[in-house]
Amino acid sequence: MLTVNVPATSANIGAGFDSCGLALALYNRVQMEEWDDVCITSLDGTRVPTGPQNLVYSTAKSLYDECGVPLRGLRLAQENGVPMARGLGSSSACIAAGLVGANELLGRPYTRMQLLERAAALEGHPDNVAPAMLGGFVTSALEGGHLYAVQKPVADTLCFAAFVPGYKLLTRKARAALPKTVPHKAAVYNVSRAALLAAAFCEERYDLLRVATCDKLHQPYRAALMPGMEEVFALCAELGALGWWVSGAGPTLMCAVHTENKAFFSGAQQALDAAEKGSPLAAYRLHRLAPDNTGAFVTA
Ligand code: HSE
Repeated sequence: MLTVNVPATSANIGAGFDSCGLALALYNRVQMEEWDDVCITSLDGTRVPTGPQNLVYSTAKSLYDECGVPLRGLRLAQENGVPMARGLGSSSACIAAGLVGANELLGRPYTRMQLLERAAALEGHPDNVAPAMLGGFVTSALEGGHLYAVQKPVADTLCFAAFVPGYKLLTRKARAALPKTVPHKAAVYNVSRAALLAAAFCEERYDLLRVATCDKLHQPYRAALMPGMEEVFALCAELGALGWWVSGAGPTLMCAVHTENKAFFSGAQQALDAAEKGSPLAAYRLHRLAPDNTGAFVTA
């Protein structure tokens, strides 16, 4: 039996809609072995589908099918450290776990990049699966079925504050909030910042994140789905965060913090604790997350 460990991710990072993302040291773990039928359990009480429609299982089976190897079933035991439908890449983590685990059980017929291309095709956009598979910051584009990606480890002088609300938001609903077209000026605004975002991570110029994370393509349209967004962003600015954004399609809000900024987490927690019951800020729980620079990995 093997265990696949897959990190959470924060996609978009503001300006890099559907193209940039980074991996976080918070993990889904799946124990996996070939079995006579489909046997799926949850080790931490998270409700997971227990039939063949389970995303880890169906993704793993698709790889067996592609290799022409008959599969009677798998035994999966899941530990879902990545909360579902919170903009932290939980479904990408399941897809990555299915592919990486099945590839291992099949004797590694595919390279990590081949698995990543497959994962990106399944997801439709690579911004979550790419960092889940490779770790660190990844900027990527799908073109003609191929994935073009650049990965850069995130320095350990950076950590992340995740403001996770108690409610879920399905990516489908957050995408439905987006307009069919955007003003040319807004597109140009994002192109310049997304380019700066990739450069900021690749050159470790984290001082640029304040501007590089600004977005006009998706966050303004999704703000109504995340009450308290502006208040959390104002708090991040006040406490000296380097840049802030909606994590993936939301509703988690994320910011990058220099590890020397010792006052950030105590200040943010105090503000959340002081929020009146029922006020938008009171919905959020704060988590301090380190970057993950490894991506999905297998342990015995
Ligand atoms: N980039 C996606 C979105 C979410 O913002 O809808 C992550 O795949």
